[in-house]
Amino acid sequence: DIPIIAIDGPSGVGKGTLGQALVQKLGFHFLDSGAIYRALAWGVLHEGVDPGDVAAVVALARRLPVRFDAGRVLYGEHDITQAIRTEEVAAIASRVAAIPEVREALLQRQRDFAQPPGLIADGRDMGTVVFPNATVKLFLDAAPEIRAERRYKQLKEQGIDANIVKIIEEIRARDARDRNRPVAPLRPAGDAIVIDTGSMTVDEVIHTACEIIRS
Ligand code: CDP
Repeated sequence: DIPIIAIDGPSGVGKGTLGQALVQKLGFHFLDSGAIYRALAWGVLHEGVDPGDVAAVVALARRLPVRFDAGRVLYGEHDITQAIRTEEVAAIASRVAAIPEVREALLQRQRDFAQPPGLIADGRDMGTVVFPNATVKLFLDAAPEIRAERRYKQLKEQGIDANIVKIIEEIRARDARDRNRPVAPLRPAGDAIVIDTGSMTVDEVIHTACEIIRS
Protein backbone atom coordinates (compact mmCIF):
# COMPACT_ATOMS: atom_id res chain seq x y z
CA ASP A 1 0.00 0.00 0.00
CA ILE A 2 1.15 3.50 -0.81
CA PRO A 3 1.61 5.59 2.35
CA ILE A 4 -0.70 8.62 2.43
CA ILE A 5 -0.54 11.47 4.93
CA ALA A 6 -3.76 13.49 4.95
CA ILE A 7 -3.55 17.07 6.22
CA ASP A 8 -6.92 18.78 6.63
CA GLY A 9 -8.03 21.99 8.25
CA PRO A 10 -9.48 25.45 7.66
CA SER A 11 -8.12 28.28 5.54
CA GLY A 12 -4.75 29.73 6.49
CA VAL A 13 -3.92 27.22 9.22
CA GLY A 14 -0.55 26.26 7.68
CA LYS A 15 -1.36 22.99 5.93
CA GLY A 16 0.65 23.97 2.86
CA THR A 17 3.70 24.94 4.92
CA LEU A 18 3.60 21.68 6.88
CA GLY A 19 2.90 19.70 3.71
CA GLN A 20 5.90 21.15 1.89
CA ALA A 21 8.16 20.50 4.90
CA LEU A 22 7.04 16.84 4.92
CA VAL A 23 7.61 16.60 1.16
CA GLN A 24 11.20 17.76 1.74
CA LYS A 25 11.73 15.27 4.56
CA LEU A 26 10.04 12.22 3.05
CA GLY A 27 10.38 12.79 -0.71
CA PHE A 28 6.66 12.07 -1.21
CA HIS A 29 4.39 13.55 -3.88
CA PHE A 30 2.17 16.49 -2.92
CA LEU A 31 -1.51 17.05 -3.63
CA ASP A 32 -2.74 20.63 -3.18
CA SER A 33 -6.43 19.81 -3.54
CA GLY A 34 -7.41 23.42 -2.89
CA ALA A 35 -5.48 24.40 -6.03
CA ILE A 36 -7.80 22.15 -8.07
CA TYR A 37 -10.90 23.93 -6.69
CA ARG A 38 -9.13 27.26 -7.23
CA ALA A 39 -8.31 26.27 -10.83
CA LEU A 40 -11.99 25.48 -11.38
CA ALA A 41 -12.90 28.89 -9.96
CA TRP A 42 -10.34 30.54 -12.23
CA GLY A 43 -11.84 28.67 -15.19
CA VAL A 44 -15.32 29.86 -14.20
CA LEU A 45 -14.07 33.47 -14.23
CA HIS A 46 -11.88 33.14 -17.31
CA GLU A 47 -14.40 31.26 -19.43
CA GLY A 48 -17.26 33.50 -18.33
CA VAL A 49 -19.28 30.71 -16.69
CA ASP A 50 -22.02 31.89 -14.30
CA PRO A 51 -20.95 30.48 -10.87
CA GLY A 52 -24.65 30.05 -10.08
CA ASP A 53 -25.20 27.86 -13.17
CA VAL A 54 -24.64 24.46 -11.53
CA ALA A 55 -24.84 22.43 -14.77
CA ALA A 56 -22.25 24.63 -16.48
CA VAL A 57 -19.88 24.53 -13.49
CA VAL A 58 -20.20 20.74 -13.26
CA ALA A 59 -19.51 20.41 -17.02
CA LEU A 60 -16.37 22.51 -16.60
CA ALA A 61 -15.25 20.42 -13.59
CA ARG A 62 -15.58 17.25 -15.69
CA ARG A 63 -13.25 18.57 -18.39
CA LEU A 64 -11.09 20.81 -16.18
CA PRO A 65 -7.84 21.34 -18.14
CA VAL A 66 -5.65 21.74 -15.05
CA ARG A 67 -2.18 20.20 -14.74
CA PHE A 68 0.57 20.43 -12.15
CA ASP A 69 4.09 20.65 -13.47
CA ALA A 70 7.25 21.29 -11.42
CA GLY A 71 5.43 23.41 -8.85
CA ARG A 72 3.45 25.37 -11.47
CA VAL A 73 -0.32 25.18 -11.93
CA LEU A 74 -1.30 25.13 -15.60
CA TYR A 75 -4.76 25.62 -17.11
CA GLY A 76 -4.52 24.66 -20.75
CA GLU A 77 -1.60 26.83 -21.86
CA HIS A 78 -2.12 29.43 -19.09
CA ASP A 79 0.20 29.47 -16.08
CA ILE A 80 -2.26 30.28 -13.26
CA THR A 81 0.09 29.61 -10.32
CA GLN A 82 -0.19 33.21 -9.05
CA ALA A 83 -3.61 34.09 -10.43
CA ILE A 84 -5.41 31.45 -8.33
CA ARG A 85 -4.11 32.93 -5.04
CA THR A 86 -6.48 35.89 -4.95
CA GLU A 87 -9.34 36.16 -2.44
CA GLU A 88 -11.79 36.54 -5.35
CA VAL A 89 -10.76 33.12 -6.70
CA ALA A 90 -10.83 31.60 -3.20
CA ALA A 91 -14.38 32.83 -2.60
CA ILE A 92 -15.63 31.30 -5.87
CA ALA A 93 -13.65 28.12 -5.13
CA SER A 94 -15.46 27.61 -1.84
CA ARG A 95 -18.78 28.29 -3.58
CA VAL A 96 -18.29 25.76 -6.41
CA ALA A 97 -16.72 23.27 -3.96
CA ALA A 98 -20.13 23.01 -2.27
CA ILE A 99 -21.66 21.40 -5.39
CA PRO A 100 -21.76 17.58 -4.87
CA GLU A 101 -21.30 16.73 -8.59
CA VAL A 102 -18.25 19.00 -8.74
CA ARG A 103 -16.61 17.12 -5.87
CA GLU A 104 -17.53 13.80 -7.48
CA ALA A 105 -16.05 14.91 -10.82
CA LEU A 106 -12.74 15.81 -9.16
CA LEU A 107 -12.44 12.73 -6.92
CA GLN A 108 -10.51 10.37 -9.21
CA ARG A 109 -8.06 13.06 -10.33
CA GLN A 110 -7.14 13.59 -6.68
CA ARG A 111 -6.79 9.85 -5.99
CA ASP A 112 -4.45 9.52 -8.99
CA PHE A 113 -1.85 11.53 -7.04
CA ALA A 114 -1.27 8.53 -4.77
CA GLN A 115 1.91 7.17 -6.37
CA PRO A 116 5.04 5.58 -4.86
CA PRO A 117 6.88 6.41 -2.69
CA GLY A 118 3.91 8.14 -1.02
CA LEU A 119 1.62 11.17 -0.90
CA ILE A 120 1.10 14.23 1.28
CA ALA A 121 -2.49 15.37 0.63
CA ASP A 122 -3.55 18.88 1.69
CA GLY A 123 -7.21 19.89 1.83
CA ARG A 124 -10.52 19.87 3.65
CA ASP A 125 -11.71 16.29 3.06
CA MET A 126 -8.51 14.31 2.47
CA GLY A 127 -9.02 12.10 5.54
CA THR A 128 -12.81 11.95 5.39
CA VAL A 129 -13.65 11.45 1.68
CA VAL A 130 -10.73 11.33 -0.76
CA PHE A 131 -8.38 9.06 1.21
CA PRO A 132 -10.49 7.44 3.97
CA ASN A 133 -7.77 4.78 4.39
CA ALA A 134 -4.88 7.26 4.71
CA THR A 135 -1.94 6.02 6.79
CA VAL A 136 -1.89 9.14 8.97
CA LYS A 137 -4.62 11.78 9.27
CA LEU A 138 -3.74 15.18 10.69
CA PHE A 139 -6.22 18.00 11.26
CA LEU A 140 -4.69 21.41 11.90
CA ASP A 141 -6.77 24.04 13.65
CA ALA A 142 -6.45 27.59 15.02
CA ALA A 143 -8.82 30.45 15.81
CA PRO A 144 -9.83 32.65 12.84
CA GLU A 145 -8.11 35.70 14.39
CA ILE A 146 -4.80 33.84 14.61
CA ARG A 147 -5.03 32.59 11.03
CA ALA A 148 -5.93 36.08 9.84
CA GLU A 149 -2.96 37.55 11.70
CA ARG A 150 -0.59 35.05 10.07
CA ARG A 151 -1.98 35.80 6.61
CA TYR A 152 -1.75 39.54 7.26
CA LYS A 153 1.94 39.24 8.19
CA GLN A 154 2.59 37.07 5.13
CA LEU A 155 0.97 39.67 2.82
CA LYS A 156 2.90 42.50 4.47
CA GLU A 157 6.16 40.62 3.97
CA GLN A 158 5.27 40.40 0.27
CA GLY A 159 4.76 44.16 0.30
CA ILE A 160 1.00 43.79 -0.16
CA ASP A 161 -1.17 46.33 1.66
CA ALA A 162 -3.78 44.32 3.58
CA ASN A 163 -6.64 45.06 5.96
CA ILE A 164 -6.74 42.78 9.03
CA VAL A 165 -10.45 43.31 9.70
CA LYS A 166 -11.29 42.37 6.12
CA ILE A 167 -9.07 39.28 6.28
CA ILE A 168 -10.83 38.08 9.46
CA GLU A 169 -14.20 38.57 7.77
CA GLU A 170 -13.10 36.65 4.67
CA ILE A 171 -11.72 33.78 6.76
CA ARG A 172 -14.94 33.57 8.81
CA ALA A 173 -17.10 33.58 5.68
CA ARG A 174 -15.07 30.82 4.02
CA ASP A 175 -14.96 28.77 7.26
CA ALA A 176 -18.74 28.99 7.54
CA ARG A 177 -19.22 27.88 3.92
CA ASP A 178 -16.71 25.03 4.23
CA ARG A 179 -18.14 23.81 7.57
CA ASN A 180 -21.84 24.08 6.77
CA ARG A 181 -22.03 22.58 3.29
CA PRO A 182 -23.94 19.28 2.97
CA VAL A 183 -21.15 17.43 1.14
CA ALA A 184 -17.69 16.86 2.58
CA PRO A 185 -18.09 19.51 5.29
CA LEU A 186 -14.84 20.59 6.89
CA ARG A 187 -14.40 18.45 10.00
CA PRO A 188 -11.75 16.06 11.38
CA ALA A 189 -12.11 12.39 10.40
CA GLY A 190 -13.00 10.17 13.34
CA ASP A 191 -9.47 8.78 13.35
CA ALA A 192 -7.67 12.09 12.71
CA ILE A 193 -5.22 13.62 15.18
CA VAL A 194 -6.12 17.26 15.80
CA ILE A 195 -3.22 19.68 16.23
CA ASP A 196 -4.18 23.04 17.69
CA THR A 197 -1.53 25.26 16.11
CA GLY A 198 -2.76 28.44 17.81
CA SER A 199 0.19 28.84 20.15
CA MET A 200 2.74 26.91 18.09
CA THR A 201 5.51 28.04 15.77
CA VAL A 202 5.86 26.51 12.30
CA ASP A 203 8.81 24.40 13.52
CA GLU A 204 6.79 23.13 16.48
CA VAL A 205 3.95 22.06 14.17
CA ILE A 206 6.42 20.26 11.87
CA HIS A 207 8.07 18.57 14.86
CA THR A 208 4.72 17.46 16.31
CA ALA A 209 3.58 16.09 12.93
CA CYS A 210 6.85 14.16 12.50
CA GLU A 211 6.48 12.60 15.95
CA ILE A 212 2.96 11.47 15.07
CA ILE A 213 4.05 10.07 11.69
CA ARG A 214 6.95 8.16 13.31
CA SER A 215 4.79 6.60 16.04
O1 CDP B 1 -5.30 28.35 0.99
P1 CDP B 1 -6.58 28.14 1.71
O2 CDP B 1 -6.49 27.16 2.84
O3 CDP B 1 -7.24 29.42 2.10
O4 CDP B 1 -7.62 27.53 0.64
P2 CDP B 1 -7.43 26.26 -0.30
O5 CDP B 1 -6.96 25.08 0.45
O6 CDP B 1 -6.65 26.67 -1.50
O7 CDP B 1 -8.96 25.97 -0.74
C1 CDP B 1 -9.77 26.93 -1.35
C2 CDP B 1 -11.22 26.48 -1.18
O8 CDP B 1 -11.41 25.25 -1.90
C3 CDP B 1 -11.64 26.17 0.25
O9 CDP B 1 -12.19 27.27 0.93
C4 CDP B 1 -12.68 25.06 0.09
O10 CDP B 1 -13.98 25.58 -0.07
C5 CDP B 1 -12.31 24.38 -1.19
N1 CDP B 1 -11.66 23.08 -0.94
C6 CDP B 1 -12.47 22.00 -0.72
O11 CDP B 1 -13.67 22.12 -0.69
N2 CDP B 1 -11.93 20.77 -0.54
C7 CDP B 1 -10.61 20.60 -0.55
N3 CDP B 1 -10.11 19.37 -0.38
C8 CDP B 1 -9.75 21.70 -0.72
C9 CDP B 1 -10.31 22.95 -0.91
